[in-house]
Amino acid sequence: MITTIPGLMDRVRDRFAHVEACPFEGPRIFFENAGGALRLKSVIATSSDYAGYPDNQGRDNPASKALMAAIDRGRADMRLFLNAPGGEVFVGESGTEVLFRLIRTAALGAEQGGVMLGSTLEHPASRSAMARWAGVTGRSHVLVPHDDAKGTVSLNAYLEAITPDVRVATIVQTSPVTGMAVDVPAIAAAIRDRAPGAFIIIDGIQHASHGQIDCAAYGADGYAVSPYKVFSRHGYGLGWASDRLTSCAKEQIVDGPDRAWELGTRDAGAYATFSDVVDYFDWLGGEVSDASDRRARVEAAGQAIHDHEARLMQAMLNGTGNLRGLAEMPGVTVIGGIGTDGREGVVSLTLEGMDAGALVTFLATRGIRVHIRKNDHYCGNILGPLGLADCIRVSVCHYNTEAEVARFLTAMEEAIVRSRL
Ligand SMILES: Cc1ncc(COP(=O)(O)O)c(C=O)c1O
Repeated sequence: MITTIPGLMDRVRDRFAHVEACPFEGPRIFFENAGGALRLKSVIATSSDYAGYPDNQGRDNPASKALMAAIDRGRADMRLFLNAPGGEVFVGESGTEVLFRLIRTAALGAEQGGVMLGSTLEHPASRSAMARWAGVTGRSHVLVPHDDAKGTVSLNAYLEAITPDVRVATIVQTSPVTGMAVDVPAIAAAIRDRAPGAFIIIDGIQHASHGQIDCAAYGADGYAVSPYKVFSRHGYGLGWASDRLTSCAKEQIVDGPDRAWELGTRDAGAYATFSDVVDYFDWLGGEVSDASDRRARVEAAGQAIHDHEARLMQAMLNGTGNLRGLAEMPGVTVIGGIGTDGREGVVSLTLEGMDAGALVTFLATRGIRVHIRKNDHYCGNILGPLGLADCIRVSVCHYNTEAEVARFLTAMEEAIVRSRL
């Protein structure tokens, strides 16, 4: 456990920038991790170094060779982080763009006819890409309904919709609104069983910072990560595509390399900053385990992150010290129910008598950064069926502490008093 090793939480926090204070607003607790995690200090330094290099790849000079070595190392680290030995890893414009690219390639490369299968839990990135390419390729886009009460989509719900003619299927690993995880290995196996030729694409964007990604075990064809949600920075998305998906026709320069997914000159700094992320997981894994190989240390870090975040979720919902948790607070409704099982670092809630915008502002006056989620094109799929106009999203990461959760719960008690005035 991160907190049971003396000094480890301080060492963890020391690796990140702006942990305790916002450079614009001053001291605050950062509970907006689902909107973008804190950045590693190493990522900031690497970004600055690479932004300054004028050289390009593919030249016969030491700078160019160094950039190409950083790309090769970044690729190897991405594979290790995703546990994706085959296929190709690549960098795109954003998580959304990587999902569009994987889904477009799959829809155009799959055997004609059939259907495209996703769920109502998905973020609009994958859902919109599926809707668009189902329309373009003349297929229907079948949507598995999620369970409003549990905030997730089950294997059973997928089983009712998987037909042998599924050509492309999407699965979101964790909902960015409810915070609830989805049983990706079981759903991917069920799709593979009934529709062996389907391309399966996983949106791992909300899941990645919580550790433990295993593409080899999912048996999927595509996986997307947004590096700014996993301690790196904005400006690029990370994708993995299986050999089968990689062999489909893709946009590329005429006579360019067939396996390449990237278009144009790559930012070597993107690859180098992802190596910083993997170095961080490797370091943390070494602090919490005796594992001797890099992937085993990444897995150990993922387990430690998961365990610590589960404790924070437990404290937030069921209380800590003499403070009661959200589950017991009058007027508070937690989206997806008050369970902690399968909850990955996110709690979205409403408070009767105070609208979500006012609650975000109130918590800001108490030094706590959270975010409003509205019934709009981003979150309407979750909030609309619940009849909610908005909610607040409180999202933690492993560098947050139980003391910070306690301060949030204290502020919520004050908000409850206000909401009744
Ligand atoms: C599950 C999920 N998918 C996709 C996205 C879109 O990612 P990006 O902002 O990198 O385009 C997000 C962003 O919030 C997300 O949480």
